[in-house]
Amino acid sequence: MVDKSLPQNSNPLGSLDEWEDDLKRRYPEPMPEGIVHAPDTKKAAKEFRNHRESARPSVREFYRLNHKYQTVDFVRQKRDEYFALNKREMSIWEALEYLNTLIDDSDPDTDFSQIEHCLQTAEAIRRDGHPRWFILAGLIHDLGKILCLFGEPQWAVVGDTFPVGCAYSEEIVFAEFFADNPDRDVPEYQTPLGIYSQNCGLDNVMMSWGHDEYMYHVAKDYLPDEALYMLRYHSCYPIHREKQYGHLMNDEDHKLFRWVRKFSPYDLYTKSAERPNVAQLRPYYEDLAAEFFPDKVLW
Ligand SMILES: [Fe+2]
Ligand SMILES: [Fe+2]
Repeated sequence: MVDKSLPQNSNPLGSLDEWEDDLKRRYPEPMPEGIVHAPDTKKAAKEFRNHRESARPSVREFYRLNHKYQTVDFVRQKRDEYFALNKREMSIWEALEYLNTLIDDSDPDTDFSQIEHCLQTAEAIRRDGHPRWFILAGLIHDLGKILCLFGEPQWAVVGDTFPVGCAYSEEIVFAEFFADNPDRDVPEYQTPLGIYSQNCGLDNVMMSWGHDEYMYHVAKDYLPDEALYMLRYHSCYPIHREKQYGHLMNDEDHKLFRWVRKFSPYDLYTKSAERPNVAQLRPYYEDLAAEFFPDKVLW
């Protein structure tokens, strides 16, 4: 059932890439490895101010919608709907081709197709000699964007993810837009722990709905935990980049977030590399997918 109160057709971004290009503008450098302390808040505050002032109007509008409509109830509703995995049956490669039918306003001459971005990410990981499950995580990390093809608006597919049901961190980009989120008026959701308990572990925490959580759910029986964390949290910049929400994380989360941080530069900074040869790479990646996934995966 379509909830009429939601702006279902509100897609301010010309293409989904616009969000990722904006991320690259916000984080022009990869995070140095091994950093585990909280960021320099003065520096971070200045960077955030600069970002806010220079962000494109479309990106700003995208975050306004995202922060207004991602509520506890909305996330619960989307989980009920998509965790049933009753939309489609497709192999991993078929899902890549399906995602590639997503037509947005990206410039075909300068922007890469979705399949090319997936392959670029995976190829960069492969070149660095990482394990096969890591390469596969690179290939499939954005497959959850097929949510767009199921009719979900951009703000429910992409965007930095964040926990719902507890206080919003000030380090979330455009945090001021949470003023319009109805959860702001639910006192239970506005304490640091909210509906959760101290160090309960992120598996018990609901993140804003998007392609990360959906893809995690599709893949959860087939990949090692390290890869699943990459799929599930690669858009969670408030945690993997801004080091927020440590009070909800357990030891396992801290250990596995090292892999999310390892993955992130491959996602953000491999786009400007040369165009991958899709036909030539296909057999390698079909074999790789077959090593971990059944021929028909439920979506
Ligand atoms: Fe992604
Ligand atoms: Fe990506």
